[in-house]
Amino acid sequence: MKRELKDMFQVLQFKDFGDERGNLVVIEGSGKDLPFTIERVFYIYGSDSTVIRGNHANLNSEFVMINVAGKSKVKVDNGTESEIIELDRPMMGLYLSKMLWKEMYDFSPDSILLVMSSEHYDEAEYIRDYDRYLEIMKEEEDE
Ligand code: TYD
Repeated sequence: MKRELKDMFQVLQFKDFGDERGNLVVIEGSGKDLPFTIERVFYIYGSDSTVIRGNHANLNSEFVMINVAGKSKVKVDNGTESEIIELDRPMMGLYLSKMLWKEMYDFSPDSILLVMSSEHYDEAEYIRDYDRYLEIMKEEEDE
């Protein structure tokens, strides 16, 4: 069955307990602020405006991305539609479902892109070939 792009990602707004001492953003997993239990966290920094990262889809992993510093853009693509989301606030998250093709790019020099995932790292669940991704999406659509 075909899944529409709008049902495959979501912009999230996290609670910001800012006061005169500064800001504190809280993200609780397991269905509270994230729709999954966090199994993995990684972050990307030192990429610049010429770099395109990602370029893959995941068979199982769901992700939430946050630019905790600086900004970047994320292009999400389900094989038929695509959309670009700019991440530019530490309290803004981007939820990505499994089987979404993604590209991260246009990193500001101070960008730190924090990523939380529902799964441990497993290279076998990464689809890194766009034509293969289109084939799998087509098979899913026909089911
Ligand atoms: P890569 O998938 O190219 O990163 P991105 O899609 O964010 O640009 O990963 C770069 C390298 O890091 C690659 O050798 C795999 C390794 N890696 C891990 O070992 N564990 C992880 O959780 C991630 C995201 C990458």
